[in-house]
Amino acid sequence: MERIIQQTDYDALSCKLAAISVGYLPSSVLQGFSVDMASKYTQWHRDYLLTLKKFSRRTFGKVDKAMRSSFPVMNYGTYLRTVGIDAAILNFLDGNEQVQVVNFGCGSDLRMLPLLQMFPNLTYVDIDYSDSVELKNNILRESKILRTSLDLPEENAATAPLLIDQKRYKLVACDLNNTTETARLLDTCTDRDIPTVVISECLLCYMHKDEAQLLINTVLERFVHGLWISYDPIGGCQPNDRFGTIMQSNLKESRNLEMPTLMTYNSKEKYASRWSTAPNVTVDDMWEIFNAQIPESERRRLRTLQFLDELEELKVMQTHYVLMKAKW
Ligand SMILES: C[S@@+](CC[C@H](N)C(=O)[O-])C[C@H]1O[C@@H](n2cnc3c(N)ncnc32)[C@H](O)[C@@H]1O
Repeated sequence: MERIIQQTDYDALSCKLAAISVGYLPSSVLQGFSVDMASKYTQWHRDYLLTLKKFSRRTFGKVDKAMRSSFPVMNYGTYLRTVGIDAAILNFLDGNEQVQVVNFGCGSDLRMLPLLQMFPNLTYVDIDYSDSVELKNNILRESKILRTSLDLPEENAATAPLLIDQKRYKLVACDLNNTTETARLLDTCTDRDIPTVVISECLLCYMHKDEAQLLINTVLERFVHGLWISYDPIGGCQPNDRFGTIMQSNLKESRNLEMPTLMTYNSKEKYASRWSTAPNVTVDDMWEIFNAQIPESERRRLRTLQFLDELEELKVMQTHYVLMKAKW
């Protein structure tokens, strides 16, 4: 099961690469920061894919194929997910002098690269299963562009579970179902007193209810101030809504993959209830974010990229994905 869950990262990566190749990403949020950042963003991702080929031709083949067969609705989804999370992070980082980010279930996400360059006082911790971070570590060290941007030596002197142990960036192997080990590693890699952004982007949906709740409770208790940003699908709560059950049976049938809490936290409110001890919790579905947070100029830009005739399909999909922000 662990291996099947790890492979979901290749979907996330191929979706992101597809959205980049058509021009949806980098988002206007990042583009607004510097002209240079947009081209670096594209280059970092391209290089990540090319270097992946050196380590696993099979995975490269899968990612490359999936990337080429991405539909406009999927690109919109990837765009919204990325913009929604980026905007929430940047908003928090802008308001705090010294900040740390912890990305749970980071997979191949390369968000740390622009953020570390944009915020000199930021420290960043990426955490995922051991196999996932090993591959990421290999790629980051092998690619000259990626290595240079992180100021990494090519030779790997670090040892597991801290595969990268830089002052400002750490890449950590950990099974997040093991809360004791997670807490121990957070103690090693982070400072409880520094304002902390926690990201879980399509992670909690693959975890079981109790383990996910323990992880949330541990983090909320541990850091003095923080913002948890979580993005996931929800099953849907209307009587004739079959989105969740269809998604579950498709995943089971095609890859023997489960989303254990998709129908438990099937509405925005239920999804957000897990952070109820945080004083300030907001949750939006991605259709709401599309309509309320993406300016008309940006929507016009998106319309020029690809023709989207499945607007109803986009609405159905995006009302079943949520972005939760819990501030404490
Ligand atoms: C769908 S991918 C998302 C990757 C990344 N967050 C993104 O959105 O691009 C889910 C990631 O969560 C990781 N993951 C799931 N359960 C985990 C666990 N118990 N411990 C550590 N990582 C986990 C997987 O290995 C995978 O990399």
